[in-house]
Parts: sequence; C-alpha cells; structure tokens
Amino acid sequence: MSGMEQYDFCSMSFYQIWIRSFCDGNGDGIGDLYGVYDKLEYIRSLGVDGIWFSPIYPSPNADYGYDISDYKNVHPDYGDLEQFQKVLQKAHSLGLRVILDLVINHTSDEHPWFIESRKGKDNPYSDYYIWRDPRWKRRKKRPPNNWFSQFEGLAWEYDDRREQYYLHVFARKQPDLNMDNPKVREEVKSIMRFWLEMGVDGFREDVITYISKHPQLPDGIPFLPGINGLPFYQEGPNLMTYLKELRAVAQGYGAIQIGEAPMTSVKTALRFLTGENRVLDMMIQFDTMMADCFLMEYIHHNFWLTKLKRAFSKWQYALAGKAWNALYLENHDHPRIISRYGNEKYWRESGTMLAACYIFQQGTPFIYQGQEIGMTNIELSSIDQYLDVLSIHAYHTFFKHQSEAKRLHRIHVSSRDSARTPMQWSRAVNAGFSTVEPWFYVHPNSPEVNVELEEQDPNSILNFYRRCLTMRKRYHTLIWGSYKEYFPWNRKIYVYERRLDRERILVLCSFSQENQEYRLPKGYAEEEAELLLCNYPRPITAGVLHSYEVRVFRWLEERA
Ligand code: GLC
Ligand code: CA
Repeated sequence: MSGMEQYDFCSMSFYQIWIRSFCDGNGDGIGDLYGVYDKLEYIRSLGVDGIWFSPIYPSPNADYGYDISDYKNVHPDYGDLEQFQKVLQKAHSLGLRVILDLVINHTSDEHPWFIESRKGKDNPYSDYYIWRDPRWKRRKKRPPNNWFSQFEGLAWEYDDRREQYYLHVFARKQPDLNMDNPKVREEVKSIMRFWLEMGVDGFREDVITYISKHPQLPDGIPFLPGINGLPFYQEGPNLMTYLKELRAVAQGYGAIQIGEAPMTSVKTALRFLTGENRVLDMMIQFDTMMADCFLMEYIHHNFWLTKLKRAFSKWQYALAGKAWNALYLENHDHPRIISRYGNEKYWRESGTMLAACYIFQQGTPFIYQGQEIGMTNIELSSIDQYLDVLSIHAYHTFFKHQSEAKRLHRIHVSSRDSARTPMQWSRAVNAGFSTVEPWFYVHPNSPEVNVELEEQDPNSILNFYRRCLTMRKRYHTLIWGSYKEYFPWNRKIYVYERRLDRERILVLCSFSQENQEYRLPKGYAEEEAELLLCNYPRPITAGVLHSYEVRVFRWLEERA
C-alpha cells in the first residue's frame, strides 16, 4: 500500500477554473461566478471531486488575478462575496470541494498596504515589503543587487518618494511581501481564516517556496535573465518556520494545502511533505512543465518524449510510499497540450491519449478548464493582441533578433494566453461563453470543439476524460498501486504499470503519428488481458499502436 490511505485528497481529482474565461453569466463578456454557478453540474459530471479557483479577488490584472489588491473580497467583474457563498454552497451540495489560490509572495502595487508602504519609512506598513537603499556607483544609483525579475527586466523598482527600491520577483506591479515581518504573517493567517470560516476547503499556494528570502539578498549569477536570484529566494532559510505557521491555521479547519513549488527538487519536496515537517499535502513541481516548455521558450527546441517521461517517473518513484503527487499537464501557465505534446491533426486521438498518460499515474489529477474538450492554442496575428506580461516581454527582449514570423510563432506555441481563451461551450455565437463580445479572442475552432457537441458523442475527448476519472475510482490499483515505467528509452511510446495485490494495470501511450510496433514487458501476455480502455474502436491490432493510440490492459492473477 502507499502509506497515504488516511488522506482523502489522494482519491480525489480537481478541476481548475480560470474564471475570466470560464463562463459569462451576466452578459458583460467576462467570465464570472454567476457562470460558474450554472456550470457546477457540468463540472460534477466530469467525475472530479473539487475545484481549484485561480484568483477571483480584486486585482488590476497586471498578471490576471495574481496581483491582488484586496484579499478578502471578490473582483467586481466576477460577482461579490454573496455570489461566492452561493457557489460554495451549491458546490458542497454536489459533493465538490472548493480550494482557492492563496497568492502571498506578493501583492498588487495597488494594494492599500503597498500604497501606504511607499509613502515613507515610518508608517505602519513601511516594513510590509522588501525595501532597500540604492547602491551608488560613480554617483549613479543602482539597484541593491543584480537580480532579474522572472517576468520583466530587473527585479527592483525605484520609488521617488521613499527614495528606495522595492523587490519584485515577478512583474513590476507585483511587489514582494516581507514575510520576515510577523505582522505580514498575521495578515496572511487572517486571510486564510477569513475564507476557511466561510467554508472553503483549502488552498493552492502560489509560488509558496519563494516567501522566505535570504537576508543578505546577495548578487546572483550575472547575465542569467529571469532566474539569477533564484538561489536566494527559493526555499529560503525561514520557509519551514513560516509554512508551519500556515499549516497550524489550515489544520484547525482540516483544510487541504497544495503548494506551487517552481523548480523544486524531489529532495526538497520530501522535506516539506513528510514526517513532522509535513507542512503541505502536495506540491506542484515544475519538471513536467520544464521537460518541454516552461512558461516560454528561452531556448527553442522540439518536444522530446523521453524528457517528459523522465520527469513523470522521477516524481513517481521519489514520492512512492512517502508522499503524494499532484498530477497535471495543462494549467493557466502552460499552452494547450494537444498543440504542444500531441497533434492538432490527430486531435481526438492525441487529446484522449494525453488524458490517460497522466491521470492513471499515482497522485491527484488536476484538469484545467477546456483541457477536457481538447481546446488548442489560439494563433493571434500580432503581438498587440497578446495580454500576458511575460509573452510581451519575451517578444521585445529575448526574441528581439529573430524574424517577425519566428517571434510570433514562438509566442503562439508557448504563451500563457494560448490557453486563456474563452471556454467553448457550444456552437452558438461566442462559443456560448457570452452573449456579447468576450474580453478575449475566441478560438476559431469553437464550432467543432465544444462541450455541446462532445456531450452527444460517446467517443469524444470529453467523454474519454469522464471514463478515465470513473475508471480511476473503480480500480483501486490506479489510486494506490505501485508505479513502474517500462522501456524508458523508447522515444515514441510511454508504458507504465500500476500494481496492487493480484492486480496489474498497464498503460501504453503512443506519442507518434506513425504506427508503432510494441511488445509487452516480460511476464505480460496480451491474450490473457482485459482491455479496459482504448481510444480507437475495437478490435485492436495486437502488437501495433496506431497514431496516438492509448490502451489500458488489466490482469488479475489467480489466487494460488
Ligand atoms: C504562479 C502562477 C502564475 C503567476 C505567478 C506569479 O506561477 O501560477 O500564473 O503569474 O505565480 O504570481
Ligand atoms: Ca460577466
């Protein structure tokens, strides 16, 4: 057994809502909590057990909700607290948990704390953020160190009034909070209690491993754009202490805590997920994303399956019997997976195969809105149409010396905006997302790719996701069983086994357009297997996988 049986989140799966593009319920072109309310039955029908909401709080949207200006409220675009409570109640009555995004590494520069803080060095909020004096070089002022921000330019911004620089690891409009200040930590706990008292079931904690900075803020490696300061703000000296404080609050309510841990190692993950220091229930690791594209392509390369498989197996083996994986392929930071790992020409085949390739691993699966119907990357014709701060910055800096066509192509395949287009509900105008023109471009494939059509088709991607989630619940082996990968060097096929007691389940996934011959691992006979799931009509051809085919076989050993 896995040693994790006492935790109910292990058998669950989650649906991620990025609300602005989910469903517009009040006809202003922007997704909202009225729309969510109406779609809760749909979400439940997928077979998931909970919802993770990307930020729904008031925000100037410099980073689409991840720059918060009021932690205890709902963005007026999305509704109000009362409407949130309605959603929460209905979700609970349908058996869905609700977890919110807790973004506490930074606030918006329009948050009242920051507005106060920048006024001077002696107000109650002056120490809420990370302010430093300039370094002077030949009578010119320079930032306190050489860190780059991950989103745009240097990590420091000078404030004329305060005559100091503030730190922003992300965008300029996202000043980092000073977590070393006990008052800030009390604010965070009070935010947590506010939502937990209301009945929220837990948090996805944004870049939580960045909240403790190295006290000296030393220089990083020069000329390494984006992440040169990382060693001094990732998993910093007080992280464990601070996470323990947050844990104590969450535990008082039995809340789930999922920490986003960009670029963390398995060794670190185990430190925070096991033993007395178990301060998080799961961590969102980045190896899966970085196996291919991390937010954007610093280095242009094609997708290599072996890298992705290595990332999968690394986490499966490392956490086995000790901790629990958060499983995901797509999210609001990652382009659409069919466009990226699959093939738009084999849309249905690759969309279904990609579902099975990760849902049956050991862990709690997360499905990002639109992933379940096979939405693909949108292709916009000019950089002016993009909104993501990161894409815009990349276009004007890292990609500057390339041809216009190539620059745009790189944005198209890697931008976060590629996965932030309005959810495609039907063939109706605006994809059924809104009765008026939506806030962002609708993908032109919405007449063919939408919920309404896929509901009617038993072989749709949508119904395949449902089948996967039902199967995962039905066969305990798929939740608790051990994981083993076969043929890791194979560049076209991903094969893994789940095993529990007398039951073995084998998942075979082809990532290729061409037919792929395969053999089963030693000790497996196809004639004796039950075919649990396949994304092609039966009968199947033994020994050959067709384009992007997936097969899931089951063996049950006779009792001796
Ligand atoms: C996380 C979020 C991302 C956001 C960043 C800064 O990585 O997932 O969307 O931009 O944190 O808050
Ligand atoms: Ca609306």
